[in-house]
Amino acid sequence: MHVLGILGSHQPDGVTGKMLQAVLKGANETATTDWINLADYEIKPDHDNQPNPVLDKLEAKLLAADVWVLAAPVYLGSLSGVMKNFLDCFRSRIARYNAVGEAVPDRFKNKHYVTITDCYAGGIENYVTGVTDAAFKTMDKFLTMGGLIKLREIVITHTWGMQTLAPAKQAEGERVGRQAARKKERDDNTVKRYIELFFMIAVMALVTMGIEAGIGQLVPLHNFWAYYGVFVLVFYVLLASILHFFTVVKHRRR
Ligand SMILES: Cc1cc2nc3c(=O)[nH]c(=O)nc-3n(C[C@H](O)[C@H](O)[C@H](O)COP(=O)(O)O)c2cc1C
Repeated sequence: MHVLGILGSHQPDGVTGKMLQAVLKGANETATTDWINLADYEIKPDHDNQPNPVLDKLEAKLLAADVWVLAAPVYLGSLSGVMKNFLDCFRSRIARYNAVGEAVPDRFKNKHYVTITDCYAGGIENYVTGVTDAAFKTMDKFLTMGGLIKLREIVITHTWGMQTLAPAKQAEGERVGRQAARKKERDDNTVKRYIELFFMIAVMALVTMGIEAGIGQLVPLHNFWAYYGVFVLVFYVLLASILHFFTVVKHRRR
């Protein structure tokens, strides 16, 4: 088992770098680890079959790792440029592309990943406004194109003037590293997801029936098809909202 850290920050020994090292420390208890400081590389995109030794070197490291830990701060409301440039340049290699330009997961499929980001904004501000969402979304988009499976997100807020990680954050990083280093042949969250789906549907059916009972006070719903039609409509709106929340909006923010 090999865990690779990938840092995309201006300061290798800053808060982002320290959290990356905490995760690698946890992983190192059972796995081998290595890390790349992207700022040390002059990363350029591939062009017309021209040699690109820098991307070749990074690609070899990525192929050799079972788990990738991407760490990059929020700069100007988005993912740091150092990390973004790497993702943009590596885009042509993260997947195969079919005749209509769709990404088809290839050599990196089923590897696992952890993402780390941080911001000056406080926990409550980030919770309300989602300062770190764009950074996570950009990394997720790239990694899911390659068919990688997400393990965890880590967020550090209130980083202004921060020199060291709080003990709780250090412990969180090491715990995530230990968990990430456990051998996973495949995404073993499948059973958990089916259980979550069951409870999601049970709660939504209950809420839908409650809403329908309320509507029934205003509009008679004694006709079977009227009852059925309203049920489907309300259930659909709830399902769409909850799926949107869990797949698009919800990121760790504190
Ligand atoms: C150039 C630059 C731009 C930043 N932009 C933002 C920002 O828009 N919002 C924010 O909350 N923090 C911002 N930060 C703070 C970083 O996200 C990060 O939390 C901080 O630099 C600490 O990480 P480091 O020690 O790894 O550099 C910025 C920092 C830098 C250096």
